[in-house]
Amino acid sequence: MRILVIGGGNMGLTYAEGMSKSFLLNRHKLMIYDKSEELIASLREHSHFDVYDKIEDCIPQADVIFLAVKPFHSETLFNEIKPLINKEQIFVSIMAGVTIDTIQESLEVRKVIRAMPNLPAQVGKGVTSYTESKEVSRIELLMVRNLLDTTGESIRVSNENFIDASTGISGSGPAYVFYFMQSMLEAAQKMGFSTNDSKILVSKTFEGAVELFNQSDLSPNTWMERVASKGGTTRAALDSMEDNNVKELIKDAAYAAFDRAVELGKE
Ligand SMILES: NC(=O)c1ccc[n+]([C@@H]2O[C@H](COP(=O)([O-])OP(=O)(O)OC[C@H]3O[C@@H](n4cnc5c(N)ncnc54)[C@H](OP(=O)(O)O)[C@@H]3O)[C@@H](O)[C@H]2O)c1
Repeated sequence: MRILVIGGGNMGLTYAEGMSKSFLLNRHKLMIYDKSEELIASLREHSHFDVYDKIEDCIPQADVIFLAVKPFHSETLFNEIKPLINKEQIFVSIMAGVTIDTIQESLEVRKVIRAMPNLPAQVGKGVTSYTESKEVSRIELLMVRNLLDTTGESIRVSNENFIDASTGISGSGPAYVFYFMQSMLEAAQKMGFSTNDSKILVSKTFEGAVELFNQSDLSPNTWMERVASKGGTTRAALDSMEDNNVKELIKDAAYAAFDRAVELGKE
């Protein structure tokens, strides 16, 4: 099985790295194509992949083709590759908002998997949601799932609405967590902690809370109740958040990302 990643930017490279480190794939079976001369030169010097600057030299050999360019480059890319592809090839798109229908119609292909990864994929802790066109067989889907899982975990969703929805939760979600972290860092520094101490206090608090959550069956609400005693410090903080409607504001933010993903798909 030969895999081609089109677009060797942040995400394309993350998948290439993940797949090449996994036992599933010999790295020499992994090809990368990008149109940026600078990037190609750097990948040729620093990476172990087969790097191509001509799409016609790599695309005919590929069984699975990852589409990892920015959504606004998709149309140009489709025009470029359409004359070179065949109907047996499997296309895995991670382009936000670009629908399976659009890919099938633009490329006149059948087997398309649409996936929504997130940034922690870079450290093998990503979560990817994916769904497929009806022409993708069970075996092909399993094979692609194994490839996606090389960057973390994945969940299969029943339709593309959930891909846009997961953009609002996990796709954009790391930025919500960073927002929360930044707020706590600023509070810690205002209280007088050094930059380094603030970083340790905040990052270990997030890490520890997530670990507690993962190692139990308890909901975040139950954990909050465990930490917050009546009249205590945590209760004061949680009351302040409730008074300011923070929970509703976070939900609104997730929906804003979801709505934007739907909008991008229509543009
Ligand atoms: N980053 C994330 O956290 C994230 C999360 C979920 C989904 N995604 C999706 O992942 C995709 C890639 O994002 P990214 O952040 O990795 O983008 P990126 O860093 O800009 O990488 C895309 C690469 O593709 C190249 N490219 C553009 N058009 C091309 C073409 N026709 N043929 C070959 N290469 C081409 C670009 O070259 P130039 O720079 O010269 O244009 C660039 O090197 C996007 O569609 C995005 O929606 C990203």
